[in-house]
Amino acid sequence: MSQAWDFDKIIDRSQQNSDKWGKYPSDVIPMWVADMDFDSPQCIKDALIQRIDEGVFGYTYASKSLVSSIQGHCQTRYDWVPSAAHFVHLPGLVCALHLAVRALTEAQDRIIVPSPVYYHLTKAPEMSDRKLDRIPFVLKGNRWSVDLKTFEESCNKADAKMILLCNPHNPGATVYTQQELSAIHAIAKRHDLLVVSDEIHCDLILNDARHIPFASLNEDAAQRTITLMAPSKTFNIAGLGYAFAIIANSKLRQRFNQAREALIPAPNLLALVAAEAAYRDGQSWHESLLEYLRGNLHYIQERIAGTSIQMAEHEATYLAWLDVRAYQLENPHDFFVKAGVGISDGAGFGAPGFIRLNFGCSRSQLEQAMNRILIALESKS
Ligand SMILES: Cc1ncc(COP(=O)(O)O)c(C=O)c1O
Repeated sequence: MSQAWDFDKIIDRSQQNSDKWGKYPSDVIPMWVADMDFDSPQCIKDALIQRIDEGVFGYTYASKSLVSSIQGHCQTRYDWVPSAAHFVHLPGLVCALHLAVRALTEAQDRIIVPSPVYYHLTKAPEMSDRKLDRIPFVLKGNRWSVDLKTFEESCNKADAKMILLCNPHNPGATVYTQQELSAIHAIAKRHDLLVVSDEIHCDLILNDARHIPFASLNEDAAQRTITLMAPSKTFNIAGLGYAFAIIANSKLRQRFNQAREALIPAPNLLALVAAEAAYRDGQSWHESLLEYLRGNLHYIQERIAGTSIQMAEHEATYLAWLDVRAYQLENPHDFFVKAGVGISDGAGFGAPGFIRLNFGCSRSQLEQAMNRILIALESKS
């Protein structure tokens, strides 16, 4: 297929009120929050323009054709077709994490979360008076994965009620295998726990792993799982605001919906239009994006070879998880900002001494950032 997309193109985002580009002074390259600096696919822009030209923007429901486009996507990519009746449409995924915890567990219940992890998975229990058990990710070979023994010990506690999974895992870039998911499911079943599975990064797999939705494992998994997905990371439309939950268990769905109704608005109508176009027509852009990201990942791996930066196997996401503990930086975030690169500090995810570097950007920007990072670290060694 010809490369119709120009991921090398530099787009000036400095005047767009972008969270990513507004955080630091203009001489700092922002490589932190999980959005990419690429143009979204043309099919999304065309669909939005067409809808804007229609000119009336009243209350809008999620259409059957949106659901069909998501089902088609799920069938092609994960061999799993969630039933249309099980969808809950949402303006974002973070609110769904918090809502699931509040609607489906009680104060003082225990929530189990493999960690270090995207901070809303730990904030959701912390902000709602639940107990939180962080289960450490450990290196198995050269791959981050959850320590199942500690996991089971926590799940065995009498007040344990829910597991929050992030698959693929952010940060750490692990795609859970069938074997790992089955082991987690067996534990969830043994201790009768609900599972909230945040799968927002599931279409950003960079090696030959396959994403397996937790709910697709078997009927028992489907009945105890709230699956959360969104097109926002894959198609770079986080600012439009759309995510969806799949909840097969009607009682859980009812409780989730009851709590949602009064507090969380329906998704923005343009977000619905964009999501449908993305899932229906965005495949060739998506495949080209993955190729470009693989190139960026390879570039990082080459640049850090021979340095004291450690990076485990990277399976998914455009977020490199770099272990810079060898440099004993007092404050890695400030150190790298001073060097001219705005990274996410691992401490924010529960892993001081690590940094998360967003490589969803042009190769030339990545090159510049890596030059700055390596020059700054050289001065420390
Ligand atoms: C694992 C994970 N979940 C959720 C989100 C954010 O979801 P949303 O923007 O739909 O609220 C992110 C953003 O980085 C993420 O990495």
